[in-house]
Amino acid sequence: MKIAAVLKWVGLLGVVALLGALASIWPRPAPGLFGTQPVALEKYLKGDPSGVPSALKNSSLWVRGEYLTKAADCIACHSQTHHAGFSGGRAFKLPFGVIYSSNITPDDETGIGTWTDAEFLHAMHEGVGKHSQHLYPVFPYASYALLTDADVLAIKAYLRTLAPIHYRPPPNELTFPYNQRGLMAIWSQLYKPQHRFEPDKDHGLEWNRGAYLAEALGHCGECHTPRNVLQAVDTQRPYAGAVADGWNAYNLADPITGLRSWSAESLVQYLSTGHTPSRGTASGPMAEVVENSLRFLAADDVAAMGIYLRGLQPMMAGIVAAPVLAPIPSNSYLTLGHQVFDEVCASCHRIDGGGVQSEMASIQGSRSCREAVPLNVLQVIRLGSHLQGAQGAEVMPGFAKTYSEAQIAAVAAFVVGHCG
Ligand code: HEC
Ligand code: HEC
Ligand code: HEC
Repeated sequence: MKIAAVLKWVGLLGVVALLGALASIWPRPAPGLFGTQPVALEKYLKGDPSGVPSALKNSSLWVRGEYLTKAADCIACHSQTHHAGFSGGRAFKLPFGVIYSSNITPDDETGIGTWTDAEFLHAMHEGVGKHSQHLYPVFPYASYALLTDADVLAIKAYLRTLAPIHYRPPPNELTFPYNQRGLMAIWSQLYKPQHRFEPDKDHGLEWNRGAYLAEALGHCGECHTPRNVLQAVDTQRPYAGAVADGWNAYNLADPITGLRSWSAESLVQYLSTGHTPSRGTASGPMAEVVENSLRFLAADDVAAMGIYLRGLQPMMAGIVAAPVLAPIPSNSYLTLGHQVFDEVCASCHRIDGGGVQSEMASIQGSRSCREAVPLNVLQVIRLGSHLQGAQGAEVMPGFAKTYSEAQIAAVAAFVVGHCG
């Protein structure tokens, strides 16, 4: 064996030993759910928080599966722009390489066409694929592990009715030792709940339904909860905010600005439409969540999710990395920002930030303008955003190609001062 190969394996053994040591000292994760009196689903007598809303209970398996697939937002990760839905190939860039999502259309060779129910359940609950390979937790199976068998099989039944697409996503590009899938077995032992959803017996049916929607289906914590060094969601600090794909997924449990301070109506409106006056409009990854998933949920379900989220334990913010602003002398900073705003932004946002096209484009008092570190303002200016609203798509174009980083930083600073 070559020296390099030996060193590689010594390194791998080192990582395994480190993980083992961490396993023994790391606090065990709270089981996905944050109530204090969890009981097995069949022991919870106030009703069934899993499945579809009552209006759909007697619908066909296909209709139930379609609802659950939307609530679990599978399409967000298993599609790429300009490519058919569910055929995979979306790239996830991580610090140690790139992982591509799989094709989950019912194609026999490249998708899940030949998967049995048991294999599909095993993937969703244990994070293990058809050929016994361990899957990377970019696939949020630590959340889906909470789903009931019936709900997972309804999702499978729906996916089976899609048109099969023959497409093999590119192979993952990961560096050693991260390309060793076997390591994920240890990760999964440490951080994946080892049981299905357990309702909290001290809470009513609505709260528990909200918990099931947010924790098991919507996997909201995958973006909104900070992660530990092994990239697992830190269940000790639920919803304390984190950076997701370069955007600040806000602290929903903040004692002052968190969802406790929102009215029930404004939260329902934000979740189902992506906008609520004086709180702002969902942009970036959150616009996608609304567009692909939340806007399809039944009104009772959105209300239940709101009840659960407004009751989150207050929690101080996670750490948000400061964006790098281009160095410009401060006196010319705001003048330059003002200039860019008048030139291009005001045509949609109005000079006063009140919005022209529709209420959606109002940035007056919006959360992103009030952040100490305006990461999302910078992101929305660089990349733009797209939100499917009630009156059609609301589009903000990205300006990364039109303006320099200095101009973008300047207009971001201007917007924050102007509307924040
Ligand atoms: C946050 C992104 C994300 C979401 C949401 C997501 N997946 Fe995935 N999924 C992935 C990625 C990435 C992989 C590939 C993981 C790997 O290669 O180890 C994957 C792999 C899978 C696999 C294994 C396929 C195979 O060939 O081994 C199945 C099955 C699957 N996902 C089903 C689903 C279903 C069903 C849903 C919705 C309930 C869903 N996924 C939601 C990202 C996601
Ligand atoms: C893919 C990552 C991602 C997922 C999944 C996600 N969010 Fe978000 N969320 C974000 C980001 C990023 C923002 C900030 C959006 C902005 O600046 O407009 C956000 C903003 C929000 C806000 C506004 C908070 C505020 O103070 O203005 C709420 C409420 C919210 N999300 C709820 C949810 C719920 C409920 C779910 C699960 C159904 C969820 N999110 C899933 C990334 C995500
Ligand atoms: C073509 C119209 C259009 C132009 C031009 C435009 N925007 Fe937007 N902008 C929108 C719309 C619509 C939204 C809300 C929908 C969304 O986020 O998807 C938005 C959202 C935003 C937000 C996020 C608000 C929130 O609540 O999170 C900020 C900040 C913003 N724009 C700033 C700017 C700046 C700065 C410029 C100029 C460089 C600009 N916009 C140019 C239409 C536009």
